[in-house]
Amino acid sequence: MATDGLALIGFGYWGTNLARNLDRLATPRWRHLVDASPERRRTAAELYPGVRVSADLDAVLDDDGVGAVLIATPAPSHAPLVRRALAAGRHVFVEKPLAMSVVDAVELAETAERHGLVLMVGHTFEYVPAVVRMREYIRSGELGEVLHLHSQRLNLGRIQSDLHTFWSIGPHDVSIANYLLGGQPRWVAAHGGRYLHDGVEDVMFVTVGYPGDVVAHMHVSWLDPAKTRRTTVVGTRRMLVYDDMNREAPLTLFDKGAEPVEPDGQGVRRYRLRDGAAHVPVLSTAEPLSVELGHFLDCVRTGARPRTDGWNGVRVVAVLEAADASLRAGGATVNVPRVPAPETGPAPSGTSRAGAGPHSDLTTAAR
Ligand SMILES: NC(=O)c1ccc[n+]([C@@H]2O[C@H](COP(=O)([O-])OP(=O)(O)OC[C@H]3O[C@@H](n4cnc5c(N)ncnc54)[C@H](O)[C@@H]3O)[C@@H](O)[C@H]2O)c1
Repeated sequence: MATDGLALIGFGYWGTNLARNLDRLATPRWRHLVDASPERRRTAAELYPGVRVSADLDAVLDDDGVGAVLIATPAPSHAPLVRRALAAGRHVFVEKPLAMSVVDAVELAETAERHGLVLMVGHTFEYVPAVVRMREYIRSGELGEVLHLHSQRLNLGRIQSDLHTFWSIGPHDVSIANYLLGGQPRWVAAHGGRYLHDGVEDVMFVTVGYPGDVVAHMHVSWLDPAKTRRTTVVGTRRMLVYDDMNREAPLTLFDKGAEPVEPDGQGVRRYRLRDGAAHVPVLSTAEPLSVELGHFLDCVRTGARPRTDGWNGVRVVAVLEAADASLRAGGATVNVPRVPAPETGPAPSGTSRAGAGPHSDLTTAAR
């Protein structure tokens, strides 16, 4: 019996986008859709009559033809659902964040490794052509030495009542910064304000320290007048601005910088400002979610490690959890536990790897 069937769990705001792509990329392998809401199930049944619609994961796990599940439910349900799916031998794609704690995230990443299953986290921005190009610029030395990064993810809405802004939309910025800067974050300091719901920060200002004294600042808010989605990276030679709201030219490489010139008579260092040309690269217009899901389906087929695997998800959760600890400590600097780098982390069985990796360090640090 074929085991390449797929199931989508969660058909809310974001699950609708996954469904649209699954319908295009994976019909007729997409066999099941699960949602806890009767209303969402009704809508799904109307839109996708060829897909079996049900209220919980049991119907999916009872179907031996299903090899992989895709989870787009609210964040607190991720760990329990991923755990059930992995325990039943299914490959998993799960929306961000992987889990609500480092302990859970590590357990899921380790379980996937142990059973040779693909675990991929939906860090969509790592599949956005502009972000991929930014990393290429950084890696090729085009920017010189990276000095600092800052991002703004602001809008009026979508207001959440159960998770603060950094858990809700911050995973995107952490994943982008981790991807661009390559190294593991060392420390986090977070401040925030609660204005709409008790106990939930509607706006947060989070500073993350990376190796080499690279500082990243992330501002997230759902209580802001202007929709802003922007990441800026400043290097010693050039600077990059990714503006996701600018559909025509989302990425600009600026030939700007401050170059040292001869010290003045008193030996004080002086700088000449360079304000050169701006270059707008031509980028693929492929939908990132489609690229991301295509990558997951390829990994399931070949057994390859996804670019945003479980360990990548752990590295994001480690920053989110440290930010919570910092908030509780009034904005104090909190260390981030060490997580295996992709090159050294364990791979799903059947794929090559250099060594067992230091993930036990993290397990110790996280527990
Ligand atoms: N990658 C992205 O750019 C992106 C964007 C938005 C949201 N997301 C992620 O997608 C996920 C869902 O967010 P959303 O905004 O669509 O939420 P939502 O509340 O709009 O939808 C969640 C859906 O899941 C269903 N559900 C809840 N618990 C369930 C369970 N245990 N079993 C089955 N169904 C269940 C709900 O009935 C609802 O239809 C979150 O993890 C969020 O972080 C990702």
